[in-house]
Amino acid sequence: MSDNPYKDGRGNKDASIANPKGTGTLSAHPGTGAAMNTQNAFLIGDSMTGGYGNGPDILHDCTVAVDAGEIAVIVGPNGAGKSTAMKAVFGMLNVRQGSVRLDGEDITDLSPQDRVAKGMGFVPQTSNIFTSMTVEENLEMGAFIRRDDFRDTMAQVYDLFPILKEKRRQAAGELSGGQRQQVAVGRALMTRPKVLMLDEPTAGVSPIVMDELFDRIIEVARTGIPILMVEQNARQALEIADKGYVLVQGANAFTGTGKELLADPEVRKSFLGG
Ligand SMILES: Nc1ncnc2c1ncn2[C@@H]1O[C@H](COP(=O)(O)OP(=O)(O)OP(=O)(O)O)[C@@H](O)[C@H]1O
Ligand SMILES: [Mg+2]
Repeated sequence: MSDNPYKDGRGNKDASIANPKGTGTLSAHPGTGAAMNTQNAFLIGDSMTGGYGNGPDILHDCTVAVDAGEIAVIVGPNGAGKSTAMKAVFGMLNVRQGSVRLDGEDITDLSPQDRVAKGMGFVPQTSNIFTSMTVEENLEMGAFIRRDDFRDTMAQVYDLFPILKEKRRQAAGELSGGQRQQVAVGRALMTRPKVLMLDEPTAGVSPIVMDELFDRIIEVARTGIPILMVEQNARQALEIADKGYVLVQGANAFTGTGKELLADPEVRKSFLGG
């Protein structure tokens, strides 16, 4: 893609952050979606309030979104509701208020399965692979909604993650943490998603493996798939983020470009270790 914002390699690229209203400023207030002009984002969980079953609300007017061609990152302390926000966007939560829109279509009432059919790929934080199945079987499972020939997609996944091709006959449970995450992302890619959601794709891996995974994630974004991801490695994730969301207690605390958040003294002090 010639207009690809990631073609120059890693890192946030200012030019990619098109904000026609010029309001892409840091905002510590609810309704940050408007401040960031995310209302027409490719995927948006807009002003979501809700919780699990009949339990208390976990999300409070929470907005997360990703634009076409971008990487958006959600960070925040443990228990802030990052995974809950992802599950809400994927349809696994009772969203009492707010909406979820994909490519302009309101999908708030769709089941997760129907969202996958609409083009959402989701890699949850835990239990994201079938450990007793081989790597290749995991990828085949990923293609479950497809009726067409998915061998080309599998070849693309193996191109992206060569180690998976090498280990394709091995049980996924025997792989290292970083390799398992590649299986999980590869499985999601098998549906040929229009947007990819990743919950802590670098959990439990070494810094070197984390860097490699981030590089692969940027590569996926380069192929034209916008990525909405949760990351506990906040600083590194914000460096590759076009947009960042800091969630605290189920609400938007700070929203801005990755660069803006990295430069904000309060965000640095509270969430980035100074
Ligand atoms: N299945 C569930 N049922 C009820 N409450 C839940 C469930 N999952 C999470 N919670 C609660 O929702 C709140 C937010 O949890 P969540 O997992 O979304 O946080 P998180 O930001 O992803 O944290 P972490 O960084 O540890 O992954 C917590 O108070 C948690 O106890
Ligand atoms: Mg989580």
